[in-house]
Amino acid sequence: MRTISARSLALLLGAGPLPRPAYRGLADGIRRLVSDGRLLVGTRLPSERTLTTELGLSRTTVGAALDALRDEGFVTTRRGSGSVVCLPAGPSGLALSQAGLIPTDVPNDVIDLTYAALPAAAGVTAAYERALVELPRFLATAGYDPRGLPETRAAVAAWFEGRGLSTSPDQVVITSGAHGGLSAVLRAHLEVGDRVLVESPTYPNAIVGVRRSAYRAVPAQLTPTGWDVDGIEVGLRQSGASAAYLIPDHQNPTGLVMDTPTRHALAGVLARANAVPVVDETFVELGLDDAPSGRQPAPFAASSRQAHTLGSAGKTWWGGLRVGWVRVPAGGAESVIEARHSLDLGTAILEQLVVTDLLHQGETLLAERRREARARRDALVTALGRHVPDWRFSVPTGGLNLWCELPEARGDELARVAETAGVRLARGGQFGVQGGFARWVRVPFCVAPDEADQVGRRLATAWQLALGARPTTPEVTPLIA
Ligand SMILES: Cc1ncc(COP(=O)(O)O)c(C=O)c1O
Repeated sequence: MRTISARSLALLLGAGPLPRPAYRGLADGIRRLVSDGRLLVGTRLPSERTLTTELGLSRTTVGAALDALRDEGFVTTRRGSGSVVCLPAGPSGLALSQAGLIPTDVPNDVIDLTYAALPAAAGVTAAYERALVELPRFLATAGYDPRGLPETRAAVAAWFEGRGLSTSPDQVVITSGAHGGLSAVLRAHLEVGDRVLVESPTYPNAIVGVRRSAYRAVPAQLTPTGWDVDGIEVGLRQSGASAAYLIPDHQNPTGLVMDTPTRHALAGVLARANAVPVVDETFVELGLDDAPSGRQPAPFAASSRQAHTLGSAGKTWWGGLRVGWVRVPAGGAESVIEARHSLDLGTAILEQLVVTDLLHQGETLLAERRREARARRDALVTALGRHVPDWRFSVPTGGLNLWCELPEARGDELARVAETAGVRLARGGQFGVQGGFARWVRVPFCVAPDEADQVGRRLATAWQLALGARPTTPEVTPLIA
């Protein structure tokens, strides 16, 4: 059975004194963690005694909080198992459906906020034009290469070198987006039924990708400030996970950036647990506040010899390119190449030529891209502050998302009614490995700055509608042991 240490629970509850009376503050805090999906159904809570010591509360206070949670249906006590997190009666065991993950047509008057992706960057059209000139020399070949074009692999390797990470082109496999890279790496290293540790919240398509490939997703709850290394170590030990999927740079959806000491510590923990780090750097080039290159801490792979790093042209230049890459450990390419070959045989030649061209152009285009994203972020931050001032979020230093905490756990209703108000939103629960996150909504800052105010207005209308809407049954995934 999954357990949580008193220390990890204290971290999740956050710093600062509990609202009074303390037993209510503790019960409310734990209930909120459960409904947000940060404390998972089926988790055994620490004993009253250890909670008492860790939280500095009296035994009576802790006991009263657990009693209240039991009465409300958020905790059950089983003989021999202690207090275990559960959800109040109601339909449960619903599988996380793919509803909302497969794009459908958006009516003209609706603003789609389900994508964290910008329109094509300036320079993409010109890169296509130059690539078309290059293309004829490939037309005499069969056009299949599961490794990727040598020039594209060399350009990606040089880009890693530029970030201080020694990389040979033989360590690079070009894939169909970072998503194709994720499938290839998991297929190369895992057997059906193996477990993959996944941050929660995380990128929904990664959760679905893991499950649809018949692996099991084991959640690693992010704390408000980031990664709980001790909790992850325990999670790895308890689950025996063979891989861990991490987004250390401008995490989707939280925007968090993993600091360098945490990268070192986590790399060590994963190495000891023999779990392959699968590190998604899709947003790494979208550091918006750091001068001059917008770069973040050293790549995770600088701390981890086993890391498999996923990269993508999708956010940096354009999602429609469908080009990504995997940087594998030295000598580790063959299994990934075989796996990707079994998935999709190779990546389109023309788009690889386009990405090679874009990589060669380097900083000039990237600086412009960051300026564009920064302007969109700042305009949306202003608009949300004006129209939904009680939504709380930290302004992220990069990426493309605002992860907003709502004043009430009505995120599911919000997503359901949003389209009536002219916006389409993803449910917070889609970002949780076990659903939850009913108090959260992800708002990507991908709309043009002059559209941001309109988005703020529509979100305010949607929120008013959500507050008056019939409650939605929480969507919960089956317990993953
Ligand atoms: C964290 C993360 N990884 C991967 C992807 C997909 O990347 P690609 O388009 O390169 O497959 C996305 C797209 O939103 C993402 O947010």
